[in-house]
Amino acid sequence: MSDESRPFRTAAVIPAAGRGVRLGPGAPKALRALNGTPMLVHAVRAMAASRSVSLVVVVAPPDGATEVKNLLAEHALPERTDFLVVPGGESRQESVKLGLDALPPGFDVVLVHDAARPLVPVDTVDAVIEAVRDGAPAVVPALPLADTVKQVEPRADGSPEPVVATPERSRLRAVQTPQGFDHATLVRAHESVTENVTDDASMIEQLGLPVVVVPGHEEAFKVTRPLDLVLAEAVLARRRANDGF
Ligand code: C5P
Repeated sequence: MSDESRPFRTAAVIPAAGRGVRLGPGAPKALRALNGTPMLVHAVRAMAASRSVSLVVVVAPPDGATEVKNLLAEHALPERTDFLVVPGGESRQESVKLGLDALPPGFDVVLVHDAARPLVPVDTVDAVIEAVRDGAPAVVPALPLADTVKQVEPRADGSPEPVVATPERSRLRAVQTPQGFDHATLVRAHESVTENVTDDASMIEQLGLPVVVVPGHEEAFKVTRPLDLVLAEAVLARRRANDGF
């Protein structure tokens, strides 16, 4: 088969090694249950729901890889998708790198998806993959902001923080995951960008390469605080009602 006719192969890396302290005490965030199923299992199913994704790599807490492997074995996952579990690192970035290192050869497109966004709809996943296949080195799903955002001079002592700027709201976007990448470009970014970043696409920006935005989805929100768990369960309840069971 020539290179042009070879189908694109897509893998998803799910960093799930964070402790999730903002959710309060309890199990690591990715292992918290939503409607009786661990958040991580929802996130893995969300990636595997795309027919384009043939491998999902879960990056587990460093001391929890066996527990995560057992968890995935206990829950029904699509047969067409392969799964790998690897131990994570100190930072999210390190965890993503460890996930990338575990990928077997032959993947053109890589998604990086937070375990903390368990409910992203498959249409959003597919839109990200399609934009990478169309030639963008990096693609992020994002939504316009409801709130005005202020840039401040942070004060560690708790005193009022001076505002230094108000970016024009209509030009701002709140960025979600999965973020999609040309595999070779993301590997290169991880080799050359060493400072800490809060999303993977900003590493591609640092290489001077274009990053494009596709529409995100309100159900792709990040489960960060206790109220987000209530919202996530409400979304699942609505889906069950709409699915008719
Ligand atoms: O902390 P934050 O909410 O930004 O984490 C985003 C994602 O990165 C979560 O899914 C978390 O489990 C993961 N993470 C990781 N390794 C770390 C820290 C965070 O895989 N050391």
